[in-house]
Amino acid sequence: MTDRTHLVDEITGHRRMRRLRKADWTRRMVRETQLTVDDLIWPIFIVEGSGIVDPIAAMPGVNRLSIDKAVEAARMAADLGIPALATFPNVDLDLRDQTGSNALEANNLINRATAAIKKAVPEIGVITDVALDPFTSHGHDGILREGEIVNDETVDAIARAAVLQADAGSDIIAPSDMMDGRIGVIRRALDASGHQNVGIMSYATKFSSSHYGPYREAISTAGLLKGDKKTYYVDPANGTEALRDAALDVEEGADMLMVKPGLPYLDMCWRLKQEFGLPVFAYQVSGEYAMVKAAAANGWIDGERVMMEQLLCFKRAGCDGILTYFAPEVARLLAR
Ligand code: PBG
Repeated sequence: MTDRTHLVDEITGHRRMRRLRKADWTRRMVRETQLTVDDLIWPIFIVEGSGIVDPIAAMPGVNRLSIDKAVEAARMAADLGIPALATFPNVDLDLRDQTGSNALEANNLINRATAAIKKAVPEIGVITDVALDPFTSHGHDGILREGEIVNDETVDAIARAAVLQADAGSDIIAPSDMMDGRIGVIRRALDASGHQNVGIMSYATKFSSSHYGPYREAISTAGLLKGDKKTYYVDPANGTEALRDAALDVEEGADMLMVKPGLPYLDMCWRLKQEFGLPVFAYQVSGEYAMVKAAAANGWIDGERVMMEQLLCFKRAGCDGILTYFAPEVARLLAR
Protein backbone atom coordinates (compact mmCIF):
# COMPACT_ATOMS: atom_id res chain seq x y z
CA MET A 1 0.00 0.00 0.00
CA THR A 2 1.41 3.40 -0.98
CA ASP A 3 0.75 6.43 1.21
CA ARG A 4 0.05 9.45 -0.97
CA THR A 5 -1.06 11.89 1.72
CA HIS A 6 2.30 13.68 1.65
CA LEU A 7 1.80 14.32 -2.08
CA VAL A 8 -0.91 16.92 -1.52
CA ASP A 9 1.46 19.25 0.35
CA GLU A 10 4.03 18.71 -2.37
CA ILE A 11 1.55 19.50 -5.15
CA THR A 12 -0.21 22.43 -3.52
CA GLY A 13 2.98 23.88 -2.10
CA HIS A 14 1.02 24.29 1.15
CA ARG A 15 -1.50 26.58 -0.57
CA ARG A 16 -4.88 25.28 0.52
CA MET A 17 -8.03 27.03 -0.67
CA ARG A 18 -10.19 25.32 1.92
CA ARG A 19 -8.57 27.26 4.79
CA LEU A 20 -10.81 30.26 4.02
CA ARG A 21 -13.90 28.12 3.59
CA LYS A 22 -13.65 26.22 6.84
CA ALA A 23 -16.28 28.08 8.89
CA ASP A 24 -19.15 30.44 8.48
CA TRP A 25 -17.12 33.30 9.97
CA THR A 26 -14.23 32.85 7.53
CA ARG A 27 -16.62 32.66 4.61
CA ARG A 28 -18.37 35.83 5.72
CA MET A 29 -15.04 37.54 6.28
CA VAL A 30 -13.77 36.99 2.72
CA ARG A 31 -17.08 37.33 0.87
CA GLU A 32 -16.52 39.59 -2.14
CA THR A 33 -20.05 40.58 -3.06
CA GLN A 34 -23.22 41.34 -1.14
CA LEU A 35 -26.81 41.59 -2.19
CA THR A 36 -28.68 44.40 -0.45
CA VAL A 37 -32.11 45.93 -0.78
CA ASP A 38 -30.46 48.88 -2.55
CA ASP A 39 -29.78 46.57 -5.51
CA LEU A 40 -33.45 45.93 -6.24
CA ILE A 41 -35.71 47.51 -8.85
CA TRP A 42 -39.24 46.15 -8.83
CA PRO A 43 -41.14 45.90 -12.14
CA ILE A 44 -44.92 46.18 -11.72
CA PHE A 45 -47.87 45.95 -14.11
CA ILE A 46 -50.68 48.51 -14.18
CA VAL A 47 -54.26 48.15 -15.44
CA GLU A 48 -57.24 50.47 -15.72
CA GLY A 49 -59.86 50.37 -12.95
CA SER A 50 -59.80 50.39 -9.18
CA GLY A 51 -59.33 47.78 -6.50
CA ILE A 52 -57.87 45.38 -9.05
CA VAL A 53 -55.24 42.77 -8.18
CA ASP A 54 -55.30 40.47 -11.19
CA PRO A 55 -52.93 37.46 -11.03
CA ILE A 56 -50.72 36.64 -14.02
CA ALA A 57 -50.86 32.88 -14.54
CA ALA A 58 -47.29 32.35 -15.74
CA MET A 59 -45.86 34.60 -13.01
CA PRO A 60 -47.09 33.25 -9.65
CA GLY A 61 -47.14 36.05 -7.08
CA VAL A 62 -47.17 38.83 -9.71
CA ASN A 63 -50.38 40.77 -10.40
CA ARG A 64 -51.71 43.47 -12.66
CA LEU A 65 -52.62 46.34 -10.36
CA SER A 66 -55.02 49.21 -10.81
CA ILE A 67 -53.48 52.59 -9.97
CA ASP A 68 -54.81 52.66 -6.38
CA LYS A 69 -53.28 49.23 -5.75
CA ALA A 70 -50.06 50.25 -7.49
CA VAL A 71 -49.82 53.18 -5.08
CA GLU A 72 -50.22 50.75 -2.16
CA ALA A 73 -47.53 48.54 -3.69
CA ALA A 74 -45.24 51.56 -4.03
CA ARG A 75 -45.80 52.43 -0.37
CA MET A 76 -44.97 48.86 0.64
CA ALA A 77 -41.86 48.84 -1.57
CA ALA A 78 -40.62 52.13 -0.13
CA ASP A 79 -41.18 50.83 3.41
CA LEU A 80 -39.13 47.75 2.52
CA GLY A 81 -36.34 50.05 1.31
CA ILE A 82 -36.60 49.20 -2.40
CA PRO A 83 -35.15 52.24 -4.22
CA ALA A 84 -37.22 52.17 -7.40
CA LEU A 85 -40.11 50.71 -9.37
CA ALA A 86 -40.26 50.03 -13.09
CA THR A 87 -43.79 50.37 -14.42
CA PHE A 88 -45.48 48.66 -17.38
CA PRO A 89 -49.04 49.32 -18.52
CA ASN A 90 -51.59 46.81 -19.74
CA VAL A 91 -53.40 49.20 -22.07
CA ASP A 92 -57.06 48.54 -22.94
CA LEU A 93 -57.13 46.67 -26.24
CA ASP A 94 -59.45 49.19 -27.89
CA LEU A 95 -56.89 51.96 -27.27
CA ARG A 96 -54.17 50.14 -29.21
CA ASP A 97 -53.56 51.02 -32.85
CA GLN A 98 -51.08 50.73 -35.70
CA THR A 99 -48.88 53.62 -34.49
CA GLY A 100 -49.31 53.28 -30.73
CA SER A 101 -50.91 56.72 -30.55
CA ASN A 102 -52.05 56.27 -26.94
CA ALA A 103 -48.37 56.55 -25.91
CA LEU A 104 -48.67 60.22 -26.91
CA GLU A 105 -51.66 60.94 -24.66
CA ALA A 106 -50.49 62.96 -21.67
CA ASN A 107 -53.22 61.43 -19.52
CA ASN A 108 -52.77 57.79 -20.49
CA LEU A 109 -52.67 54.94 -17.98
CA ILE A 110 -48.92 54.90 -17.44
CA ASN A 111 -48.66 58.66 -16.94
CA ARG A 112 -51.59 58.73 -14.51
CA ALA A 113 -49.95 55.88 -12.60
CA THR A 114 -46.63 57.73 -12.42
CA ALA A 115 -48.28 60.92 -11.19
CA ALA A 116 -50.29 59.03 -8.55
CA ILE A 117 -47.27 57.08 -7.29
CA LYS A 118 -44.99 60.12 -7.13
CA LYS A 119 -47.66 62.13 -5.32
CA ALA A 120 -48.32 59.46 -2.68
CA VAL A 121 -44.79 58.04 -2.35
CA PRO A 122 -42.38 60.75 -3.50
CA GLU A 123 -39.34 59.00 -2.03
CA ILE A 124 -39.47 56.02 -4.39
CA GLY A 125 -37.91 56.26 -7.85
CA VAL A 126 -40.16 55.63 -10.84
CA ILE A 127 -38.59 54.21 -13.99
CA THR A 128 -40.82 54.17 -17.05
CA ASP A 129 -40.32 51.95 -20.06
CA VAL A 130 -40.73 53.89 -23.28
CA ALA A 131 -41.30 51.42 -26.10
CA LEU A 132 -44.53 51.38 -28.09
CA ASP A 133 -45.43 47.69 -27.64
CA PRO A 134 -48.05 48.19 -24.92
CA PHE A 135 -49.81 50.64 -27.25
CA THR A 136 -49.65 49.03 -30.69
CA SER A 137 -52.29 46.72 -32.15
CA HIS A 138 -49.49 44.50 -33.56
CA GLY A 139 -47.41 44.23 -30.38
CA HIS A 140 -44.22 45.63 -31.91
CA ASP A 141 -42.08 48.22 -30.11
CA GLY A 142 -42.27 50.62 -33.03
CA ILE A 143 -44.45 51.91 -35.83
CA LEU A 144 -45.21 49.28 -38.46
CA ARG A 145 -45.42 50.40 -42.09
CA GLU A 146 -45.67 47.93 -44.95
CA GLY A 147 -44.25 45.12 -42.88
CA GLU A 148 -41.34 47.17 -41.56
CA ILE A 149 -40.71 48.72 -38.14
CA VAL A 150 -39.74 52.21 -39.25
CA ASN A 151 -36.83 53.52 -37.21
CA ASP A 152 -36.79 57.31 -37.35
CA GLU A 153 -40.52 57.88 -37.08
CA THR A 154 -40.58 55.52 -34.09
CA VAL A 155 -37.73 57.41 -32.43
CA ASP A 156 -39.65 60.66 -32.83
CA ALA A 157 -42.77 59.14 -31.23
CA ILE A 158 -40.77 57.58 -28.41
CA ALA A 159 -39.01 60.86 -27.64
CA ARG A 160 -42.36 62.63 -27.41
CA ALA A 161 -43.73 59.85 -25.19
CA ALA A 162 -40.63 60.17 -22.98
CA VAL A 163 -41.25 63.89 -22.47
CA LEU A 164 -44.86 63.18 -21.44
CA GLN A 165 -43.62 60.53 -19.01
CA ALA A 166 -41.17 63.04 -17.53
CA ASP A 167 -43.94 65.65 -17.32
CA ALA A 168 -45.96 63.12 -15.30
CA GLY A 169 -43.07 62.73 -12.86
CA SER A 170 -41.00 59.83 -14.18
CA ASP A 171 -37.48 59.96 -12.74
CA ILE A 172 -35.78 57.70 -15.26
CA ILE A 173 -36.73 56.94 -18.85
CA ALA A 174 -35.89 53.39 -19.92
CA PRO A 175 -36.09 52.94 -23.69
CA SER A 176 -36.53 49.22 -24.46
CA ASP A 177 -37.24 49.49 -28.19
CA MET A 178 -33.67 49.19 -29.60
CA MET A 179 -34.26 51.73 -32.39
CA ASP A 180 -31.09 53.41 -33.65
CA GLY A 181 -30.41 56.91 -32.34
CA ARG A 182 -33.10 56.88 -29.68
CA ILE A 183 -30.92 57.71 -26.69
CA GLY A 184 -29.55 60.88 -28.28
CA VAL A 185 -32.95 62.04 -29.50
CA ILE A 186 -34.61 61.36 -26.14
CA ARG A 187 -31.81 63.18 -24.27
CA ARG A 188 -32.25 66.26 -26.46
CA ALA A 189 -36.04 66.14 -26.15
CA LEU A 190 -35.85 65.88 -22.36
CA ASP A 191 -33.35 68.73 -22.10
CA ALA A 192 -35.36 70.94 -24.44
CA SER A 193 -38.43 70.49 -22.23
CA GLY A 194 -36.68 71.31 -18.96
CA HIS A 195 -36.10 67.73 -17.85
CA GLN A 196 -32.32 67.87 -17.49
CA ASN A 197 -32.53 65.89 -14.26
CA VAL A 198 -34.50 63.02 -15.71
CA GLY A 199 -32.09 60.15 -16.34
CA ILE A 200 -31.90 57.56 -19.08
CA MET A 201 -31.41 53.89 -18.32
CA SER A 202 -30.83 52.35 -21.70
CA TYR A 203 -31.83 48.81 -22.44
CA ALA A 204 -28.44 48.88 -24.14
CA THR A 205 -28.09 45.21 -24.87
CA LYS A 206 -31.53 43.81 -25.34
CA PHE A 207 -31.59 40.44 -26.97
CA SER A 208 -34.11 38.81 -29.25
CA SER A 209 -34.85 36.28 -26.53
CA SER A 210 -37.44 33.59 -25.91
CA HIS A 211 -37.58 34.51 -22.22
CA TYR A 212 -40.20 37.28 -22.50
CA GLY A 213 -43.30 35.07 -22.83
CA PRO A 214 -44.96 35.66 -19.45
CA TYR A 215 -44.42 39.43 -19.75
CA ARG A 216 -46.29 39.43 -23.04
CA GLU A 217 -49.13 37.66 -21.28
CA ALA A 218 -48.97 40.25 -18.48
CA ILE A 219 -49.43 43.22 -20.83
CA SER A 220 -51.57 41.26 -23.33
CA THR A 221 -49.26 41.54 -26.31
CA ALA A 222 -48.72 37.80 -26.69
CA GLY A 223 -51.78 37.24 -28.88
CA LEU A 224 -51.17 40.41 -30.89
CA LEU A 225 -47.54 40.09 -31.88
CA LYS A 226 -47.09 39.46 -35.58
CA GLY A 227 -43.76 37.85 -36.39
CA ASP A 228 -40.77 38.49 -34.15
CA LYS A 229 -38.50 41.33 -33.05
CA LYS A 230 -35.31 40.12 -34.73
CA THR A 231 -34.94 43.24 -36.92
CA TYR A 232 -34.37 45.42 -33.86
CA TYR A 233 -33.30 43.30 -30.85
CA VAL A 234 -29.77 41.82 -30.78
CA ASP A 235 -29.18 38.24 -31.92
CA PRO A 236 -28.47 36.10 -28.80
CA ALA A 237 -25.35 34.85 -30.59
CA ASN A 238 -23.72 38.29 -30.74
CA GLY A 239 -21.82 39.69 -27.76
CA THR A 240 -19.44 42.01 -29.61
CA GLU A 241 -22.28 43.53 -31.64
CA ALA A 242 -24.18 44.14 -28.39
CA LEU A 243 -21.14 45.91 -26.98
CA ARG A 244 -21.04 48.20 -30.03
CA ASP A 245 -24.72 48.97 -29.56
CA ALA A 246 -24.07 49.87 -25.92
CA ALA A 247 -21.13 52.09 -26.94
CA LEU A 248 -23.46 54.15 -29.13
CA ASP A 249 -25.90 54.55 -26.23
CA VAL A 250 -23.07 55.74 -23.98
CA GLU A 251 -21.94 58.27 -26.62
CA GLU A 252 -25.52 59.48 -27.06
CA GLY A 253 -25.86 60.20 -23.35
CA ALA A 254 -27.18 57.16 -21.48
CA ASP A 255 -26.68 57.48 -17.71
CA MET A 256 -27.06 53.78 -17.00
CA LEU A 257 -27.00 50.58 -19.03
CA MET A 258 -29.19 47.52 -18.83
CA VAL A 259 -28.66 43.95 -19.96
CA LYS A 260 -31.75 41.95 -20.78
CA PRO A 261 -32.46 39.08 -20.19
CA GLY A 262 -30.22 38.49 -17.19
CA LEU A 263 -28.90 35.08 -16.31
CA PRO A 264 -28.00 33.71 -19.77
CA TYR A 265 -26.27 37.05 -20.49
CA LEU A 266 -23.99 37.50 -17.45
CA ASP A 267 -21.04 37.86 -19.83
CA MET A 268 -22.67 41.03 -21.15
CA CYS A 269 -23.02 42.42 -17.63
CA TRP A 270 -19.33 41.87 -17.08
CA ARG A 271 -18.26 43.22 -20.47
CA LEU A 272 -20.39 46.36 -20.17
CA LYS A 273 -19.13 47.10 -16.68
CA GLN A 274 -15.48 46.62 -17.68
CA GLU A 275 -15.84 48.58 -20.90
CA PHE A 276 -17.80 51.65 -19.79
CA GLY A 277 -17.77 51.83 -15.98
CA LEU A 278 -21.32 53.20 -16.01
CA PRO A 279 -23.90 51.75 -13.63
CA VAL A 280 -25.05 48.45 -15.13
CA PHE A 281 -28.33 46.75 -14.37
CA ALA A 282 -29.60 43.33 -15.36
CA TYR A 283 -33.24 42.62 -16.04
CA GLN A 284 -34.09 39.19 -14.69
CA VAL A 285 -37.03 38.83 -17.05
CA SER A 286 -40.42 37.19 -16.76
CA GLY A 287 -39.33 33.84 -18.24
CA GLU A 288 -36.47 33.60 -15.77
CA TYR A 289 -38.86 34.32 -12.91
CA ALA A 290 -41.34 31.75 -14.22
CA MET A 291 -38.66 29.04 -14.46
CA VAL A 292 -37.63 29.47 -10.84
CA LYS A 293 -41.24 29.59 -9.63
CA ALA A 294 -42.29 26.54 -11.65
CA ALA A 295 -39.37 24.38 -10.56
CA ALA A 296 -39.88 25.44 -6.95
CA ALA A 297 -43.61 24.69 -7.12
CA ASN A 298 -42.74 21.17 -8.23
CA GLY A 299 -40.34 20.76 -5.34
CA TRP A 300 -37.46 20.33 -7.80
CA ILE A 301 -35.40 23.21 -6.45
CA ASP A 302 -35.37 25.30 -3.29
CA GLY A 303 -36.90 28.40 -4.86
CA GLU A 304 -35.84 30.83 -2.18
CA ARG A 305 -32.20 29.78 -2.21
CA VAL A 306 -32.02 29.70 -6.00
CA MET A 307 -33.53 33.19 -6.12
CA MET A 308 -30.97 34.59 -3.67
CA GLU A 309 -28.06 32.85 -5.40
CA GLN A 310 -29.05 34.10 -8.85
CA LEU A 311 -29.37 37.68 -7.63
CA LEU A 312 -26.01 37.52 -5.86
CA CYS A 313 -24.42 36.22 -9.08
CA PHE A 314 -25.64 39.32 -10.93
CA LYS A 315 -23.64 41.36 -8.41
CA ARG A 316 -20.55 39.19 -8.87
CA ALA A 317 -20.87 39.66 -12.64
CA GLY A 318 -20.53 43.42 -12.18
CA CYS A 319 -24.13 44.59 -11.94
CA ASP A 320 -25.00 47.55 -9.75
CA GLY A 321 -28.57 46.33 -9.43
CA ILE A 322 -31.22 44.02 -10.80
CA LEU A 323 -34.73 44.55 -12.11
CA THR A 324 -36.51 41.57 -10.60
CA TYR A 325 -40.06 40.47 -9.94
CA PHE A 326 -38.66 38.89 -6.77
CA ALA A 327 -37.86 42.34 -5.31
CA PRO A 328 -40.39 42.44 -2.43
CA GLU A 329 -39.76 38.80 -1.53
CA VAL A 330 -36.02 39.40 -1.46
CA ALA A 331 -36.34 42.66 0.48
CA ARG A 332 -38.34 40.83 3.15
CA LEU A 333 -35.78 38.02 3.36
CA LEU A 334 -32.90 40.48 3.62
CA ALA A 335 -34.66 42.33 6.42
CA ARG A 336 -34.99 39.20 8.56
C1 PBG B 1 -40.67 45.42 -24.82
C2 PBG B 1 -40.42 44.85 -23.47
C3 PBG B 1 -40.15 43.50 -23.25
C4 PBG B 1 -40.05 43.33 -21.87
C5 PBG B 1 -40.20 44.58 -21.28
N1 PBG B 1 -40.43 45.52 -22.30
C6 PBG B 1 -39.88 42.40 -24.21
C7 PBG B 1 -40.87 42.06 -25.23
O1 PBG B 1 -42.08 41.98 -24.98
O2 PBG B 1 -40.41 41.85 -26.35
C8 PBG B 1 -39.84 42.01 -21.21
C9 PBG B 1 -39.80 41.96 -19.73
C10 PBG B 1 -39.93 40.58 -19.17
O3 PBG B 1 -39.97 39.58 -19.90
O4 PBG B 1 -39.95 40.50 -17.93
N2 PBG B 1 -40.45 46.74 -25.00
